[in-house]
Amino acid sequence: MKIYMIGFMASGKTSVGKRLAKKLQLSFMDMDPYLENKYGKPIPEIFKEDGEDKFREYERNVLADTFSMDDIVIATGGGTPCFFDNMEVINENGISVYLNHSIDFYVYKLLHAKTVRPLVVGKTEDELRDYIVETLGHREQFYKKAKHIVNLNGEKKDEIADIICKIINKDK
Ligand code: S3P
Repeated sequence: MKIYMIGFMASGKTSVGKRLAKKLQLSFMDMDPYLENKYGKPIPEIFKEDGEDKFREYERNVLADTFSMDDIVIATGGGTPCFFDNMEVINENGISVYLNHSIDFYVYKLLHAKTVRPLVVGKTEDELRDYIVETLGHREQFYKKAKHIVNLNGEKKDEIADIICKIINKDK
């Protein structure tokens, strides 16, 4: 079984994905650190030195690396489903799960995040909100191609992992 966690930045793809993997006794892989390791530098540096287009190519290559993996939960990057035919190949290769939170949730999480994300770094709360509304407006059409859309409203990470577990088990 291969599960792809998809969703906006800070939606919990990694933290929920890790919990889900544990519950289902699967391994876990996070595309962002894997990409940093494969290309030998942190994502902010890749954006600065190589540009976003190059990052998206690297990301696509990392996605291709996941096709041969099995018994695994994979946390994609927030933009992964929205470039090339990534969402189609994600759905051909595994079970996609979209973590769908409110705009307020993303604003709060991104304002208080420790991870440096080049697309939102240095933004004020108002700028961040505008960016999220606009970007999500474009990205939602891709995210909504997920096999399972999980609409969330403040549930804890463990609860979210439980919800997903039930959905996946029901489908077996
Ligand atoms: C991005 C999300 C990031 C990372 C990169 C670009 C995006 O991953 O891949 O900074 O385009 O939304 P997270 O969703 O894990 O923050």
